[in-house]
Amino acid sequence: METSPLLEITNISKVYPNGVVANANVDFSLAKGEIHAIVGENGAGKSTLMKMIFGMEEPSEGEMRLNGQKVKFRSPQDAIDSGIGMVHQHFMLVPSLTVVDNMILGMEPTRGFNIHYKEAVRMTRELSARYNLAIDPLARVEDLTVGMKQKVEILKVLIRGARILILDEPTAVLTPQETEELFKQLQALKREGHTIVFISHKLKEVKAICDRITIMRAGKTEGVFETSSVSEREISRLMVGRDVVLKYDKGDRKPGRPVLQARNLIYVNAEAKRVLQDVGFTIREGEILGIAGVEGNGQSELVRALTGSLPGAEGSVTVGGESILGRSIKDIRDRGVSYIPEDRMRQGAAKDASIADNLISMFYRLKAWNRGPLLNRKKIAAFSEAQIERYKIRAKSPEQPIGMLSGGNMQKVVVARECEAAPKLLIAEQPTRGVDVGAAQLIHQRLLEMRAEGCAILLLSADLNEILEVSDSLLVLYDGQFVAYYPDASQVTEETLGFAMLGVQRQSEAEVRRAIHD
Ligand SMILES: Nc1ncnc2c1ncn2[C@@H]1O[C@H](COP(=O)(O)OP(=O)(O)OP(=O)(O)O)[C@@H](O)[C@H]1O
Ligand SMILES: [Mg+2]
Repeated sequence: METSPLLEITNISKVYPNGVVANANVDFSLAKGEIHAIVGENGAGKSTLMKMIFGMEEPSEGEMRLNGQKVKFRSPQDAIDSGIGMVHQHFMLVPSLTVVDNMILGMEPTRGFNIHYKEAVRMTRELSARYNLAIDPLARVEDLTVGMKQKVEILKVLIRGARILILDEPTAVLTPQETEELFKQLQALKREGHTIVFISHKLKEVKAICDRITIMRAGKTEGVFETSSVSEREISRLMVGRDVVLKYDKGDRKPGRPVLQARNLIYVNAEAKRVLQDVGFTIREGEILGIAGVEGNGQSELVRALTGSLPGAEGSVTVGGESILGRSIKDIRDRGVSYIPEDRMRQGAAKDASIADNLISMFYRLKAWNRGPLLNRKKIAAFSEAQIERYKIRAKSPEQPIGMLSGGNMQKVVVARECEAAPKLLIAEQPTRGVDVGAAQLIHQRLLEMRAEGCAILLLSADLNEILEVSDSLLVLYDGQFVAYYPDASQVTEETLGFAMLGVQRQSEAEVRRAIHD
C-alpha cells in the first residue's frame, strides 16, 4: 500500500492566528481504497489536519500532493472539485431547511432551479437507497434525529462526487446499531473504490473497520500502523502516554431520599403515537440511574419532558417534592437541576462567548456571584481557571471563545458547567460524547464523586459499556415503556441488556415497577 499514495502530506504545520500550534511538521499519507483512522487526544490536531486537506484552513507551511501532483486548496470548493469531501464533527446543516435543500445548498445550479431541485430529490432517493441511508428528502432537518442528520451529511458529500471521504467523528453521535449500519455503508464505499479517513475516539471501532491508523499527539504524528499490528491498549498508550483503565471502584452505595420522582408520564406526539406510555421511576440521592434503549424508543422525549422542552407531556414529575413538569428550562434549573444535552452545539454552548462566560452561565442567578449589577470578574477568573485545570480543558486562556476549542474540549466545558453548579439532580445525556478515552475516564470519575456527595444522576448513553460501568441501577426503555429494571447494574451483561433493548425479553410489570421507590 505504501508505494504510491493517493494523497500525501509532508511537513505540514498550522499555527492559528491566536498563536495556537495545532499541527507541527505533520506527515500523513493515504492509500487508494483504504479506510485510514486518525486517533489522538482532544486537541491533538486531528480536525485541523483534515480541515487543511479540505481547503478550510490554510497550512502555515508544508506540502500536499494528490495523485503525485502538488495541490493547494484555497477553499473547500477546490477540494470538492478534486473529489474530496468532508463530514464535519459538528453538523453544518441549516435546520430550518429540508434535507434536499441542504443537499443542494452551495452547489452550482447546472440547470433551471426547478429541474435541479427535482433532480436533487431523485439523486437523494437513489443514493440513500444505494448506500442504505434511508432518509426522507422532504423532511425538515430540525425534525431529524442526530443519527439521521449524519446520514444527510454523508449524502451531501456523495452527491458532490467525493472519492475521498473525510469523516470527523461520525460515530460520536450514532447509536451502536447506527454505527454498524454506517460500517456497512463505509465498506460498500470502499468496495467501490472510495478512500475514507475515519476519526474516532472509540478504538474498538477503529480496530473493526480501519486498515491503517495514524496516531496524533499534541499536534504531531506519533506513527502510522497497520491496524492488525497494534492492540487497543497500545493505541491508547501511544495517544495518552499512559494506560487507561475503564473499570471503577465505586465503593458501597447507600441511596438516600428520593430526588426525582416521575409518575405516569404520558406523551402522545403530533402523529398520535404514544411515545411515552405511562412510565414512572425514582432517582434517589447518591444514585446513578442509567436508561438504556435503542434511539427512538422514547428516551429523547423523556429527557425533554424532564428538562422543560416537551409541551404536552402529562403525568407528574417532582424534584425535591416540587413539581417541574411543564415548567420552563430556567425554572427547572433554578430548582437545582443540571442538564448535559446530547447536542452540545445546539443547546449546550454559546459559541462566541468565552470559556469563562460559558462556565459561569449557570451562576448568574446566584447572589454570591453578583456584586451589584456586575459579576465579580476576579472570582470568575479563579473559578474558570480551576475548571480548566480540573477537566483538563485544552485552552489558551479562559477568555478564549469556546468556538475555537476542539470538539472534545467544548464538551468538557459543558460538562464542567453542569457538574460544578452543585445540582441536586444531574441529567447527563451522552456525557462523554466526543471526548478521548482519558477525558471519558475523568468525567466518569467526576460523576461518581457527585454521586458520593449525594447528587442524583440520570445517565443516558448509547455506549453500553459506559452505562454498565457507571450506573448503579438500570432501566430499559422500549417502545415508550420500561421493559426491564435492574436494581444492581453490576449484575447485568451486555447481552442481557441487548435483548431487553430490542424488546425480545421483557420483565413483568411488577418487576419494572420496582424502579418506583415511594
Ligand atoms: N479556529 C481556531 N482558532 C484557534 N485555535 C483553534 C481553532 N480551531 C482549533 N484550535 C486549536 O487547535 C488545537 C487542535 O484542535 P483540533 O480541533 O484540531 O483538535 P482535535 O484533535 O480535532 O480534537 P477533538 O478530539 O477534541 O475533536 C486545539 O488546541 C484547539 O483549541
Ligand atoms: Mg476534532
